[in-house]
Amino acid sequence: MARVFITGSSDGLGLMAAQLLIEQGHGVVLHARNEARAGDVNKLVPQAEATVVGDLSSMSQTRSVAEQVNRLGRFDAVIHNAGVGYREPRRDDTEDGLPRVFAVNTLAPYMLTALIEKPHRLVYLSSGMHHGAHLNLSDLTWTKRRWNGAQAYAESKLHDVLLAFAVARRWPEVLSNALEPGWVPTKMGGAGAPDDMDKAHRTQVWLAVSEDPAALVTGEYFYHLRRHAADPAARDEKQQEALLNACQALCGIALP
Ligand SMILES: NC(=O)c1ccc[n+]([C@@H]2O[C@H](COP(=O)([O-])OP(=O)(O)OC[C@H]3O[C@@H](n4cnc5c(N)ncnc54)[C@H](OP(=O)(O)O)[C@@H]3O)[C@@H](O)[C@H]2O)c1
Repeated sequence: MARVFITGSSDGLGLMAAQLLIEQGHGVVLHARNEARAGDVNKLVPQAEATVVGDLSSMSQTRSVAEQVNRLGRFDAVIHNAGVGYREPRRDDTEDGLPRVFAVNTLAPYMLTALIEKPHRLVYLSSGMHHGAHLNLSDLTWTKRRWNGAQAYAESKLHDVLLAFAVARRWPEVLSNALEPGWVPTKMGGAGAPDDMDKAHRTQVWLAVSEDPAALVTGEYFYHLRRHAADPAARDEKQQEALLNACQALCGIALP
């Protein structure tokens, strides 16, 4: 039995992953953006060990999420699942003056990776949209370009793969992988999304807990329980380091 922490587990794929892990007999700690959403998910998943609370668009609340998780002791796996919209019409500045998509999808998983006590496995939710995205590391936070919500989302999901692969390279003792769940009809995916909802949450669960040798790898990218090619840009170690440095400069936290 493993102990797993899942960000963004009040809805969608994070909630489904939590329910599947509990069905399989694993221990799960949930995460919700505020007390009201924590109350909602506690009713849906009463078997969870605990629910940590914090809005990942805020650096101070993200730090608090990491502190709450560390107080609960070491985890076998952390699933960086929380994410926001792939077609945000506006930059939508956070309290820290960052685009919300970047803050939640890129900076929060970076901060939580750096601050949470190292688990045995790390899983990062990317998207098929990361393929072909340009990194634009000189304008990560969209201060020089005209806002494009789909592009901002695609970039953020490429960042998630860079982060997974950078961690795999820097922390050989941790299995660190990324995946795309398919385009499915969650709140984010929208009602018309065509991929298989029943398969969408299974890869993150499998990477977090399975003893299947195919899941016991690191620095790989997956789709529906199979290895899949990530965009080649994600393998560029210089770009990985540049992303880590940029995140460190923004939040003041170094990846150990
Ligand atoms: N659905 C798809 O088609 C698809 C495709 C490719 C990749 N993905 C990726 O899969 C992951 C899960 O997506 P999903 O489809 O399950 O989305 P979802 O149904 O919208 O759920 C997202 C989860 O993240 C939480 N969240 C969002 N912003 C947050 C914030 N600022 N602070 C704390 N929690 C926050 C949400 O909380 P609330 O419930 O309070 O909103 C919710 O629990 C994302 O990383 C997404 O990029 C999804």
